[in-house]
Amino acid sequence: MSTARARALANLALVKYFGKRDLALNLPAAGSLSLTLEPLATTTEIEFSSRFKKDEISLNGVPANGPFAERVSRFLDIVRSIASSKEHARVVTENAFPTAAGLASSASGFAALAVAATRALDLTLTSDELSTLARRGSGSAARSIPGGIAVWQAGELPDGTDSFARSIAEPEAWDLRVVVGVTDPGPKAIGSTHAMEKTRLTSPYYDQWISSARADLEDAIRAVHKRDFPLLGEITERSALAMHAAALAARPGIVFWNGATVDAFHCIRNLRNDGTEVYFTCDAGPQPKALCTADAEDTVVAALDKLAGITKIILCRLGAGACPINLV
Ligand code: PMV
Repeated sequence: MSTARARALANLALVKYFGKRDLALNLPAAGSLSLTLEPLATTTEIEFSSRFKKDEISLNGVPANGPFAERVSRFLDIVRSIASSKEHARVVTENAFPTAAGLASSASGFAALAVAATRALDLTLTSDELSTLARRGSGSAARSIPGGIAVWQAGELPDGTDSFARSIAEPEAWDLRVVVGVTDPGPKAIGSTHAMEKTRLTSPYYDQWISSARADLEDAIRAVHKRDFPLLGEITERSALAMHAAALAARPGIVFWNGATVDAFHCIRNLRNDGTEVYFTCDAGPQPKALCTADAEDTVVAALDKLAGITKIILCRLGAGACPINLV
C-alpha cells in the first residue's frame, strides 16, 4: 500500500504539559493527563510515490509552505527512516475546527499523520509506538493516539521510548463534557514550544510548576479511577492556573489570555458558586474551556453564550483514539 487515510481527535489536557526535558525529541519534564475530544477531528490522506519530487502538503484545501510544511516534512523524514523509504509524499489534511488557535490542531494533525504515514509505508506499530512517533511531531500529539482519558508518562529514558500515552478510561466510561468558548479564532501569538522554552529558561516559578504538575498527575489519575468529578475539576483548574502563572512570570511574561478569556473564568466560577459543577481550563491560546458533566452542559452553554467576547461555542465529549479510515 502507498496510500492511506486516518482520523484523529484533538485532546484537552486537564493536567498540563508545559516544559521539555529534551527539545529535539519533545520529551516532557512531567507527565500529563488529557481528554480526547469528539468532534475536534483532523482527517489526513497521504500517498508516497517516486513521482513526487518533494513533499506536497495541503492544509484545509490550501497548499502549505513555510514552517508548517517544513515541520510536516521533518516528521515524514522520521517515518521514512523507520521504513527505509526515500519516497516523497502528497499529504492532504483537513481540520474540522480552527487551526493553530489553542485548540490542539497540531495534536490531532500529527496523530492522524502518524497513523496514515505508517500505514501507507506498511509499517505495523503498536499503539505505544504510534504515540511515541506522534510525539515527535508535536508533544501533545502523543495523547491523541489513545481515546477517552489519556495519560502521557514523562518517561526516563534519554531516547524517549518510554514516553508515550495510554488510555486510562474508554470514551464510554465517563460522560464528561467540554464546552469550548472561542474568543479569537486567529493563529496563536506565540507558539507553545517557544513559550515553554522561554518559561523553562527565565521563569522563577518553572521548577515549582514542574513539581506541582507531577503531584497533580498522581492525584488526577486517582480522581479518574474513583470517577470523582469535583476532585478532577479542582485539579484541572489549578493545573491550568499554575501553568499560566509560570508562563506569566517568564521574562518577558507570556500572556495567552484576552479579556474574554478571564471573563469566562469568572463566569465559570460564578456558576460553581451557584451550584453547577463546572471548572475551567485554558491552553497556550485565548480560548477558555469549561469541564462539566452532561447534566450541567446546557447551563454552562447558556452562561458562556451571554459573554460578549465569546464568538463561538463548540460542544465536545470524549472520543475514540486515532484510527485508519479505509479507502474506497
Ligand atoms: O504539543 P504542543 O507542543 O503544542 O504542546 C501544547 C501544550 C499545551 O497545550 C499548552 C498544554 C497541554 O498539555 O496540552
